[in-house]
Amino acid sequence: MPRPPTTAPIALYRDPEVFERERQAIFSTTWQFLGMAADLVRPGDYVADVIAGFPVVVVCDESGTLRAYHNVCPHRAGPLVTEAKGRCDRALVCRFHGWRYGFDGRLLEATDFGPADGFDTADFRLLSVRAETWRGVVFINLDAAGASLAEILSPLDERLPPPIHRPARIRDRHPVACNWKVFVENYLDGYHQEGVHPDLASKAGAQRHEVNLQGDIALYQAPARQNAAESLWAWIWPNLGVSFYRGVLMLESARPEGPDRTVIEHVFLHEPEDPGVDAAILNAERITHEDALINERVQQNLDAGVFQRGVLSPTHEEAVARFQARVARVLAE
Ligand code: FES
Ligand SMILES: [Fe+2]
Repeated sequence: MPRPPTTAPIALYRDPEVFERERQAIFSTTWQFLGMAADLVRPGDYVADVIAGFPVVVVCDESGTLRAYHNVCPHRAGPLVTEAKGRCDRALVCRFHGWRYGFDGRLLEATDFGPADGFDTADFRLLSVRAETWRGVVFINLDAAGASLAEILSPLDERLPPPIHRPARIRDRHPVACNWKVFVENYLDGYHQEGVHPDLASKAGAQRHEVNLQGDIALYQAPARQNAAESLWAWIWPNLGVSFYRGVLMLESARPEGPDRTVIEHVFLHEPEDPGVDAAILNAERITHEDALINERVQQNLDAGVFQRGVLSPTHEEAVARFQARVARVLAE
C-alpha cells in the first residue's frame, strides 16, 4: 500500500516571495478570467482589471475584435484607463500625460512631448496580451505562446450543451482571507463535504464526488444517482472552477490578490427566463460562504506556524496531491 503523500510546505501559503514567483510562473502563463464579452460590443468599449497584480485592459477595436494590453503606458507607466469598464473614443489616452494609442497598440501621438533628438513615436507601442472569449466570458493570457483557451476547454465543450446565444448573466465577487491555493485545494477535495456542507452531503446521499485529473482539467464524477448528462463539475489549472447544474453554467475563479488574500469571482450564465436560476445561485453562494469560512480558519492556522506538514488521503485527496506537486514543479523550473 502506498504511503500517503505529505502536504506542501506552509511557506507556500504565506511567503510574499513565493507569491511573487507564482505571479511570474503561474499567472503570467495561464488563461485568467477577466470579464464579460457583453461589455465589449461597440468600438472603444473596454474592460479593465488587475489580475494577480497585473493591470490589464481589453478594448473592442473598430472591426469588433478584442485587443488586450497591459494597462501600462510605455512613457512612465501611467494607466491607460482607470475605470473597470467604459468607452473611449477612437484611442486609448494615457491618464498621466495624455499619450494617445490606437486600438492596435501603436502610439499615435506623444502629446506635447516637445522636440527631442532621435525620439520616434514608432519606438513605442502598448504591450500586447492575448484575449479570448468562451461562452460570452472574456479571458486573458499574458503569455504569447501556449495553447488557446478554446483548445484547453474543448473537453468541457464536449460535455456541455451548446452555448446559449444571449445568456442572462450575474457576476459577483467574494473576498476571502486565504491563499489562493487553499481555496483551490478545497475545490479539488470532495472529502470535506460532510464536514463543511452537511446539506449537500445529505442531498447527494452522502456519496462524495470522485475527482479525475487529466492534464489541465479535473473532471468530477458525480454520484451515481445524479444524471451525468445534466451536471458537470470541473476545475482547470490553475484557478478556475466550472460547474453546470440545472441549466446554470457557473464559473468560479480564485483570483490571487496577495499571499493571504483571494477574491472569488463568480459568473452565472443561464437562459434569460430560467425559473430555477435563483435557487441555483443561492445554493452556490451558500456553498462558497461555507468554504470561505473554513478556508479562512485554515489560513489562520497555517499563519500561526504550529502546523508544519500534514498528509493526504490517497483515496480522497489525490487531486490535491497532484495539484500541490504541479505547483512545486512549476515553482522549481
Ligand atoms: S505615462 Fe503615459 S503619457 Fe506619461
Ligand atoms: Fe466546499
